[in-house]
Amino acid sequence: MRKILFASSEVHPLVKTGGLADVSASLPLALHEQGQDVRIVMPAYRACLAALEGTAVVASINLEGFLLPVEVLESRLPNSDVVLWLVNSPYHFDREGGPYGQPESGDWPDNAARFALFSRAIAVLAMNEAGLSWQPDVLHCNDWQTGLAPALIAAQEQRPATLFTIHNLAYQGLFSRDEFDALDLPDLFWHMEGLEFYEQLSFMKGGLVFADKISTVSPSYAEEICNEEYGYGLEGLLSYRADEGRLSGILNGIDHDEWNPKRDPYITSPYSAKKLDKKADNKAALQRYFSLPQEPDVLLLGFISRLVSQKGIDLTISAVRQLLDAGAAVQLVCLGSGDPDYERDLQVLRARFPDKVGVTIGYDEALSHQIEAGVDAFVMPSRFEPCGLNQLYSLRYGTLPIVRTTGGLADSVEDADELGGGTGFQFELATPEALLVALNRALALYQQPVLWRQMQVTAMKRDFSWQNSAAAYLALYDDLSL
Ligand code: ADP
Ligand code: GLC
Repeated sequence: MRKILFASSEVHPLVKTGGLADVSASLPLALHEQGQDVRIVMPAYRACLAALEGTAVVASINLEGFLLPVEVLESRLPNSDVVLWLVNSPYHFDREGGPYGQPESGDWPDNAARFALFSRAIAVLAMNEAGLSWQPDVLHCNDWQTGLAPALIAAQEQRPATLFTIHNLAYQGLFSRDEFDALDLPDLFWHMEGLEFYEQLSFMKGGLVFADKISTVSPSYAEEICNEEYGYGLEGLLSYRADEGRLSGILNGIDHDEWNPKRDPYITSPYSAKKLDKKADNKAALQRYFSLPQEPDVLLLGFISRLVSQKGIDLTISAVRQLLDAGAAVQLVCLGSGDPDYERDLQVLRARFPDKVGVTIGYDEALSHQIEAGVDAFVMPSRFEPCGLNQLYSLRYGTLPIVRTTGGLADSVEDADELGGGTGFQFELATPEALLVALNRALALYQQPVLWRQMQVTAMKRDFSWQNSAAAYLALYDDLSL
């Protein structure tokens, strides 16, 4: 049994902006189920404290660079026995709004301090210096918000082995030199081979430079980030670490209990690969919800997403507009929030085709399950996608994904052939035209119900549970110090 401290800035169902939260709950849970002593550490945001039934103060710690002591609260990950530690600094985390800022006004201006404090607390826990009598063998950090922790303990003796997982290289935690100075970090970190990145402080580099090993969330993304196109200037460092054998990719798994069409409390009519006909009830319910004509035979497309350029929303809007202008028998339902320009563009599309397009701007957990269950095909034309979870949820729900061949999308969806082989539809170029070709292929195959159903059944049988991926993490934990 290994002792694993798993550090993340968001954990479902307590606080979530994207897939990181899903993984930060379902991976520790899978490790726990495989007999590991895993504990999660996250910030004590106001929303978490409100959602948790009971927390106990188990430690009070002083952190370098911060005046007030910080409490460590203990609780359990909801619906599990997994120990959850919350770093409680009300000044930094007890506020209304999201974990990184407010949708209208951007990032919190003190994010450098907030996540430096979080990283410092992680380091204290990792070194068993909080008086909790628990010395982890492995510190597993996730994304930039935890990036300083591996750096802070790198030179210490008797430290745990460290793994840093990149969920998205696009968000690096870059701050000014002044902010670096204000954080009281060791001067020697201000170096190209440390945390400095073109005269800025990079939290992400803390993980990339100082962790024993780096992983990312799909094998393809692990290769892509070593190239200029996807590396954001970090491709040299990442290639170097890859050459050392210190960068790998493990495809995310999904929580098979939470995402299970046979027992999904959010959906109208549960179904399985053997009782696929019932999926139609969910389609009708979704069409009703979005006030679209309840036509069983139109191809109902859907997407659920943060509305950011990464996700190729503009490609979807343009390609679907062309399809609808040409009179194709398709409908589209969308759920998302983010960039106001994309929100407006979606509303414009809806206004132009009110009986073909449904749009919900916002965040809605229940509706996200209903869309996965109700649509025929899921559109995910991401410009880059480290892993992507919605295509995995789609496969499990017999909803065929239409994806760009990048990152985890390329690693999880098999392109259709004319004989009903494959589990979805792939295309390469990030252009509306290329997506349109894939949409037309899907539309053509949808006219052949036997082949479509064959693909649905194949998709539903693919196993993206955590079983294999959690085992891959365990093997990686064992290799960290090699
Ligand atoms: P990313 O982490 O880049 O946003 P992923 O595909 O890994 O992309 O994960 C996104 C997660 O967030 C999925 O669980 C998805 O269902 C959820 N999600 C995204 N937007 C919304 C929304 N508007 N409402 C509900 N869930 C959402
Ligand atoms: C990131 C990525 C997404 C991935 C998720 C969980 O948010 O954008 O592709 O699935 O992290 O690893």
